[in-house]
Amino acid sequence: MLLHLLPNNLFDRGKTSFIRSICKLVCMQKVALLFISVFISIIPYSQNTPSTFPLIPFPKEIKFSKETFSLTAKTKIILFDTSLRQEVGFLNNHLKSNYNIQLAISTVLPKSGHFILFKHTTSKPESEESYNLKMNPTSIQITAANNTGIFYAIETLIQLMPTEKKDIKKTFGSEVQIPCADISDSPQYQWRSMHLDCSRHFFSKEEVKKYIDYLAMYKFNVFHWHLTDDQGWRIEIKKYPLLTAIGSKRKETLIGRPKENKYDGITYNGFYTKNDIKEVVDYAAKRHITVLPEIEMPGHSTAALSAYPQYSCTGGPFETATNWGIKKEVYCAGNDSTFLFIQNVLTEVMDLFPGKYIHIGGDECPKDRWKTCRKCQQRMLAEKLAGENELQSYFIKRIEKFVNARGKQIIGWDEILEGGLAPNAAVMSWRGTEGGATAAKQHHYVVMTPGKPCYFDHYQSKEIDKEPIAIGGYNPLDSVYTYNPSPKGLNEEEAKFILGAQGCVWTEYIPDFSKVEYMSMPRMAALSEAIWTPADKRNYSDFINRLKLHAKTLDKLNINYARHFLNRE
Ligand code: ACM
Ligand code: ZN
Repeated sequence: MLLHLLPNNLFDRGKTSFIRSICKLVCMQKVALLFISVFISIIPYSQNTPSTFPLIPFPKEIKFSKETFSLTAKTKIILFDTSLRQEVGFLNNHLKSNYNIQLAISTVLPKSGHFILFKHTTSKPESEESYNLKMNPTSIQITAANNTGIFYAIETLIQLMPTEKKDIKKTFGSEVQIPCADISDSPQYQWRSMHLDCSRHFFSKEEVKKYIDYLAMYKFNVFHWHLTDDQGWRIEIKKYPLLTAIGSKRKETLIGRPKENKYDGITYNGFYTKNDIKEVVDYAAKRHITVLPEIEMPGHSTAALSAYPQYSCTGGPFETATNWGIKKEVYCAGNDSTFLFIQNVLTEVMDLFPGKYIHIGGDECPKDRWKTCRKCQQRMLAEKLAGENELQSYFIKRIEKFVNARGKQIIGWDEILEGGLAPNAAVMSWRGTEGGATAAKQHHYVVMTPGKPCYFDHYQSKEIDKEPIAIGGYNPLDSVYTYNPSPKGLNEEEAKFILGAQGCVWTEYIPDFSKVEYMSMPRMAALSEAIWTPADKRNYSDFINRLKLHAKTLDKLNINYARHFLNRE
């Protein structure tokens, strides 16, 4: 039937039957090729490219596929393990609020049809947070040893979903096109945290929850909540009501730089009730984030001492600070009732925060008052302490003993190394990397947050006159991206004590949440990749390309992110 495609005269010239059959074969091949090409042009051809996968942080292993999974209201969630209902609910909430889709949950694996399967693996994972995500046009399989891994797989899946309305077909309800991939992912560092100073400026619990959402999006697992400082005490403590009645208020706030010496004359206040704290802790836990509360001592305690001046060296009176910088009023280390006060505060704090660590501050404690305080000097004599640094070490060790007896650990800024580190304390290295390296050499756990590049209150552009006021220092996006938290000079054993890294958002010059977003985004995204993705999978220009695509998500969330990267090649 296909011979008419051949020139007729070929056979008319009386060639042998052998030639005739060769011609037949060639002809059939031609037709088959034609048929295949018509078929290929009819079936939908996926346009997946690496830019279809704007994942941040980028996964450890990913195999891109050209195929697409079309999620519709008919797609089923297959769940054998009820302990995953929380994580599955998170996915369903996302689908509901973004695409108006709610997926039914079934415990039976269908023979055919379209499904997302959630499963715990029994094999030993690379880390407690590892996950696998296998996708093809009919199924998505999410497996992990732990619920945290499952949650991270969901966060990855969400980043693959379209953010633009034009990508969501509205034929029979929504159809969400998800590019397929085979992902095997695991973090490089086990501690990945972001900090927020809610003392210098107060952020509502709704804003704190938004911040936690951003952390979850980038697979951070610790939220460091800076709750007390000279300028405001922000956590309700039942036993000491004046901490919030007096300590959460300041009569006014500095405007601009200290040297201008201008004040706004407006009372500033705000604190979190116990219920607010429980709500935030629970909200974070559902996103596999531990909240690390920070209660500052022995320095940065003016707000507490304005409420309870009897725990200072001089007896006060004091006022909650209205400007920034290091203050001389600190807790008296010679007075036993000071320790009782702090212990009672910490008891209530430990009841609210289920995590293993309590941050006790320990930074920037001037020793002026201790030097002239009779009780502090007596304590030094009685405890045979050689100088005020050892008195600070005595202070922290005494608090550590109390905290450890209640099954928790302390973590403090690197000044707690001075005068001798408390036996079980973990260290946050902020004044460079040396403190972290010293602590790791002493086999103490360390979280790295050196001002350069981990303080996101610093400028992110050199054109300072075009930027909103910030604390001096320049931490551009690329220096955050290329940060390696493991200091040089550690041996293999010592390097294991570097748990990870943290980005800090101090808020002296950040009066509202919109500016928190501006200062932290997208540096938070860059840090997430620096500490999640292995070095050989990281590439700054590739990150920028993904970030430009990811910006659609930031736009959709109405995040006030800094846009300097948009002008970069
Ligand atoms: C700090 O920045 N004072 C820890
Ligand atoms: Zn004293």
